[in-house]
Amino acid sequence: MSTTTDTARIFSSDNTAGASPEIIDAVTRAAAGQTLPYGADGITADVRRRMSEIFERDVDVLLVSTGSAANALSLAALTPPWGSVLCHRDSHINNDECGAPEFYTAGAKLVPLGGDDAKIDPDELRAAMRHKAGDVHSVEPSVVSLTQATETGAVYTRDEIHTLGPIAKEAGLRLHMDGARFAGAVAALGRTPAELTWRAGVDLLSFGATKNGTMTADAIVVFDRSLTAELAFRAKRAGQLASKMRFHAAQLDAYLTDDLWLRNAGHANAMAARLQEGLKAIPEVGLLGAADANILFCRLPQRVIEGLLADGYVFYHDRWEPGVVRFVTSFATTEEDVDHLAQAVGRHAT
Ligand SMILES: Cc1ncc(COP(=O)(O)O)c(C=O)c1O
Repeated sequence: MSTTTDTARIFSSDNTAGASPEIIDAVTRAAAGQTLPYGADGITADVRRRMSEIFERDVDVLLVSTGSAANALSLAALTPPWGSVLCHRDSHINNDECGAPEFYTAGAKLVPLGGDDAKIDPDELRAAMRHKAGDVHSVEPSVVSLTQATETGAVYTRDEIHTLGPIAKEAGLRLHMDGARFAGAVAALGRTPAELTWRAGVDLLSFGATKNGTMTADAIVVFDRSLTAELAFRAKRAGQLASKMRFHAAQLDAYLTDDLWLRNAGHANAMAARLQEGLKAIPEVGLLGAADANILFCRLPQRVIEGLLADGYVFYHDRWEPGVVRFVTSFATTEEDVDHLAQAVGRHAT
């Protein structure tokens, strides 16, 4: 995509956005001089300090280069190879990580569950946790993994997390959160990061940042610090201990400074809400599910899909069901981009 116009028409993913200027500046500053490698630098220590402030307790932090690495390493630290990971059937770990969770856990089984808006249904969770628990002929239910925000753009409320967390914990299971869009959830709910995670029993959080302003850096936030040493060995073994860790750290440090992470996510959410408002006014559009964060699903007539594609719009369609479309906004989406898209939909619909 070479022109501004093209860029403004990309709604396929938040991975298509660039990086926040504050983050690029921080990386440039971090390039000066010499410092210790492999995370022994001062900026990595600053990230741990900032995360501890944000989560209102001492946490450990491992910086990694992808969300898939954060998820797979976290799950490997939480389940034995003969365990199972209970997750939603639409979850990224179940559908989009090429078996990395199974590979990194040395063979643990992912057990997909149902629930509206890609949120795990509590009754299904209870039933799955009981299924053959303690029976050597089956895998042992070991971890529950929640995605916040979900793959369909919904957000688990504080109460929903505080329902699911204790169900897992009381049965002795560990709790993982895939927070590839955690910032979007915090911005949408206006709740503290602590109450949305460890206060409900989350042991490890995959803290996404790349979709919301950083270039190449995500993190694992460790609430159960007895897991830190194991995670460090696993990260090195997985090729996720960057020698020049200061560059990952500089990105996260700037991301967490002056609430940039929440400002970016709030903007992305506001752009999705604006798009939703624009589309609501068009009778041919069927909005689907909750769009609490920055992902919006809708049903469009085929002629509208074809018209948008002919205009140069880029988005996923017909992947889920014929006529079902996904639009994703980001920190870089402008009001003008959104309004043009809604106008284009309206034009092709009539
Ligand atoms: C819910 C969710 N989890 C995790 C990821 C991490 O993906 P990646 O390994 O591409 O950074 C993504 C990316 O699309 C995602 O949507």
